[in-house]
Amino acid sequence: MDFQQLLINRRSIRRYTDEKIDPEHVKLILEAGLLSPTSKSSRAWQFVVVEDSDMLSRLADCKPAGAMPVAKCPLAVVVAVDTTSTDPWIEDGSVAASFMMLQAASLGLGSCWIQVRGRFTADNIPSEEYVQEALGMPETCIPVCILTFGHKDEDRKPQDLEKLKWENVHIGKF
Ligand SMILES: Cc1cc2nc3c(=O)[nH]c(=O)nc-3n(C[C@H](O)[C@H](O)[C@H](O)COP(=O)(O)O)c2cc1C
Repeated sequence: MDFQQLLINRRSIRRYTDEKIDPEHVKLILEAGLLSPTSKSSRAWQFVVVEDSDMLSRLADCKPAGAMPVAKCPLAVVVAVDTTSTDPWIEDGSVAASFMMLQAASLGLGSCWIQVRGRFTADNIPSEEYVQEALGMPETCIPVCILTFGHKDEDRKPQDLEKLKWENVHIGKF
């Protein structure tokens, strides 16, 4: 599949079969994150790989809505960045997450970004702190998102090039 077809066909997948992801594919996904560019080449991201179902269920409680896919996926990667090492840490984490999702798509796997940064648990604890506590992470290392991965158990339509928001593109000046 050429790269544009990959982009058109990538959709957020929130339902996964029980099938485990091939460890070689897990490695490729992590390599994609480790290959991603960072400001001043800080490479200050930290990726926490979670496959344990109890921990996945616990992480799914990081916010009251929108984190359901974490409980039922075979693999989650928490994307965090050491904020003492880089200033544009949100950007660095986001680029790494995007690379991993695209690598997953190229392997035919589904993935979904679960927002952590700036969210709160049902008890009003910052979701970042909840995830840090669950995984024993240092407080300077802030989770941006949880990426869920797995074999697809839902069909999503490819994106439609006819519906792209070209009105958001400005040529020369706004
Ligand atoms: C920054 C960001 C945060 C997101 N947060 C969530 C989330 O918390 N839960 C979720 O199910 N999907 C989340 N998504 C997935 C979006 O809902 C999804 O990308 C959007 O609806 C477009 O659908 P598509 O990815 O299938 O093209 C997030 C995506 C991004 C880029």
